[in-house]
Amino acid sequence: MQQFNNKILVTGGAGYIGSHTVVSLIEQGFEVVVLDNFSNSSAEALRRVERITGVTLDVVSADVRDRQALQNAFEHNKFDAVIHFAGLKAVGESAQQPLRYYLNNVDGALQLLQVMNDNGCKRIVFSSSATVYGDPSSVPITESFPLSATNPYGQSKLMVENILRDISSSDPNWQISILRYFNPVAAHQSGLIGEDSGGVPNNLLPYISQVGVGKLEFLSVYGNDYDTHDGTGVRDYIHVVDLASAHIKALKVLDDEHGCQSYNIGTGRGYSVLEIVKAFERASGQNIEYKIMPRRLGDIASCYADTDKSARTLGWQAEHDLDDMMRDHWHWQRKNPNGYN
Ligand code: NAD
Ligand code: WQD
Repeated sequence: MQQFNNKILVTGGAGYIGSHTVVSLIEQGFEVVVLDNFSNSSAEALRRVERITGVTLDVVSADVRDRQALQNAFEHNKFDAVIHFAGLKAVGESAQQPLRYYLNNVDGALQLLQVMNDNGCKRIVFSSSATVYGDPSSVPITESFPLSATNPYGQSKLMVENILRDISSSDPNWQISILRYFNPVAAHQSGLIGEDSGGVPNNLLPYISQVGVGKLEFLSVYGNDYDTHDGTGVRDYIHVVDLASAHIKALKVLDDEHGCQSYNIGTGRGYSVLEIVKAFERASGQNIEYKIMPRRLGDIASCYADTDKSARTLGWQAEHDLDDMMRDHWHWQRKNPNGYN
């Protein structure tokens, strides 16, 4: 019989990063309960997680703001920790619907933290984002860079980070890891789970891969006049499976660390839009048509991580390189041109 060491509540576990992390947790012997309202995901993702792992999942279909549903989950389970992925994440949409974003992301975190506190579970890993560094004055970015936000989505992440720092200072029993993801891409090697962007994607890799399968005609490259080596935006793309393993390391470190710590989760390498296009063409054998367009509002020139702290403290570093990322992204897209539908 499988031995479980700890039971973890995973909010947003049906989503892109959550589903990959659930696979890693199960592979590492954790017992998992997923709570998701499926506002941006499909139950099919969880069925596929079950196929990959051979484990039947315990799923609570509820909103993280539903305090009674959370309380019930805590009454029925003794959670060792929570990984909090549940949230809305589209930057552009957040500018149009700020209230929805604050209610979902900030109130969601508050309700969760209150129920955790009431039930004496004070260990949490929170999904933050490199967006909290705003427009950094230099790269690579360390965790001690100043924090700022340029849109409601980024503000909501920063607000939750501040709430976590406040509860940690008020009560030393809390054990909190804030993971600041850079640009998550790719998919599980099985090609069974991946990012289902639904509709026209906003992010670079989902967009390129839809051009690759012929669903979109060409890529708009947003600006080639940035202060970067080829003029296009530079980002730190990180394989979602590496991202998932960072959560396992964070949980393990929390076993004996109190307080609130933030970690950059990236590879430490930046690639330009045109380098990504070339790498994707190599991996897929497809020609990616692109046109240079004006800059996208709010974009910055360069963003990549200094990963020293996560390497030293979490004992974590990314294992997949750019070619692995492109291969696995393409594999998922080719197998699932319409996502989970
Ligand atoms: P996703 O949309 O695929 O997953 C989020 C999941 O949370 C979905 O399954 C959704 O249905 C669920 N959810 C949303 N609001 C909820 C609520 N109120 N109650 C219950 N469930 C709810 O997104 P993802 O890419 O997997 O991102 C996961 C987390 O990581 C998010 O908090 C996101 O802000 C953060 N993040 C993502 C990226 C990225 O580029 N993907 C980068 C940095 C940070
Ligand atoms: C990457 C590069 C674009 C699309 C966003 C959020 C961030 C985080 C990750 C959640 C940029 C260029 C893109 C396209 C392009 N999410 N691009 N044509 O903007 O770095 O980060 O996702 O936390 O908060 O802001 O990611 O993939 O949208 O863009 O030229 O069609 O690709 O200008 O240089 P971004 P992205």
